[in-house]
Amino acid sequence: MRYLTIALAKGRLGKTFEMFEAIGINCDEMKSDTRKLIFTDEEHKLKFILSKASDVPTYVEYGAADIGIVGKDTILEEGRKLFEVIDLDMAKCRMCVIGPESSAELLKHKELIRVATKYPNIAKDYFYNTKHQTVELIKLHGSVELAPIVGLSEVIVDIVETGSTLKANGLQVLEEICPLSARMVVNQVSMKMEKERITKLITDVRAFLQERAQSK
Ligand code: PRP
Repeated sequence: MRYLTIALAKGRLGKTFEMFEAIGINCDEMKSDTRKLIFTDEEHKLKFILSKASDVPTYVEYGAADIGIVGKDTILEEGRKLFEVIDLDMAKCRMCVIGPESSAELLKHKELIRVATKYPNIAKDYFYNTKHQTVELIKLHGSVELAPIVGLSEVIVDIVETGSTLKANGLQVLEEICPLSARMVVNQVSMKMEKERITKLITDVRAFLQERAQSK
């Protein structure tokens, strides 16, 4: 039997191994303090790879991973060909337009503004297709909250989870784009070739989610 490969996003979604553990998959190796990026569960012939979140859809689309666990933000931004099969109802947050209070007017009057973001595709889709506002997009790679503070842009498009980063930097949510959460995605060929094993995994994860929801 070949290994089924599951790509997990490092960081915010790193805790999803708890879900795999709950459905009987051995994650001991993953929990240890190590710099390793590949872990195996020999009994179930599963291989876990830890990648940067934004790369998970790439591994899955090309079939280097059969399955991926990744945020809806990354799925929307990357626009890869894959099947999104389960909303894991974890790592819940919101994609928002954020800025100082003074920028609210600029959004209302659809002025030409600069928007800094790690998510240019999501921002472009929102401003051009939903709001019909022409904007200049500036791609950043992190600490995006700096942009409106130092005058790089009028607003940013970014994730809000607890809201503490915003608050600490004197910014606020001006508009909400969409809710986000972790999703399970599957390679389109693997879904056919490994149908039985992947369907079993999906069924087990769904049962886990249902049980968790009932115990809340
Ligand atoms: C994300 C996001 C915000 C922050 C929001 O950044 O870009 O900065 O988290 O979370 P909060 O509402 O709970 O404060 P991340 O931690 O991924 O770091 P980065 O900005 O360096 O990419």
